[in-house]
Amino acid sequence: MTDQHPQPPHEIRTSRLTLRAARAGDGQALHDAIAVSLPDFFPWLSFSAQLSDVPTLDQVSQSGQEAFAAGTFYVWRAWEPEGMLVGTVDLHTFNWEVPACSVGYWLRSDRRGRGYATEFVSAVIDVAFGVLGMQRIEARCDVRNERSWRLAERLGFTLEGIARNDDRDAAGVLSSSRVYSRICSQEQPQA
Ligand SMILES: CC(C)(COP(=O)(O)OP(=O)(O)OC[C@H]1O[C@@H](n2cnc3c(N)ncnc32)[C@H](O)[C@@H]1OP(=O)(O)O)[C@@H](O)C(=O)NCCC(=O)NCCS
Repeated sequence: MTDQHPQPPHEIRTSRLTLRAARAGDGQALHDAIAVSLPDFFPWLSFSAQLSDVPTLDQVSQSGQEAFAAGTFYVWRAWEPEGMLVGTVDLHTFNWEVPACSVGYWLRSDRRGRGYATEFVSAVIDVAFGVLGMQRIEARCDVRNERSWRLAERLGFTLEGIARNDDRDAAGVLSSSRVYSRICSQEQPQA
């Protein structure tokens, strides 16, 4: 795909953080952030059953960089000014016919409770609507993952319903999702 669609910025500044598109060299910083957060990530994130090593996370970052360039999946890492990687936010599952996509996120455990995730996910949502022209952004949160769905609500997402037995968590347990969306206020569907 790519050139017929708008491209998002590789770097986005927020009041406290800098978001940078994934880069091959992110592996070590990613490893450090995930290592301290794994007990809080499990079982919500698919990769949280075990800690991946740095070469694997470098490869993940390389793939993220390539997907960003190809326009199929956009992942940014959130960095503090001192150089600590504190989180990730991504846009995935694009349907350019609408256009619509989904959002995903995680925050380093020892940076919770400061509004960081609200800040960096909000910045990417602004890009998704303002630059990419999305009409709809979806967020799916395990019904048991209250911190995640409270973040979606803080970001102005509306609960559409519960998708029952739609997934398995990282422990392999059958799970249900709260399905949230935000839509672009500019263009409304015909009644
Ligand atoms: C989901 C997740 C990103 C939410 O993190 P979080 O720290 O709760 O969210 P924020 O960083 O936006 O912080 C919000 C909290 O900071 C407080 N806060 C402090 N300063 C703030 C500010 N300037 N702006 C906004 N909130 C602020 C808020 O009141 C809120 O506190 P509360 O939790 O007591 O209500 C995090 O828990 C996480 O990474 N979980 C594991 C991975 C995961 O589940 N990902 C989602 C899969 S669907």
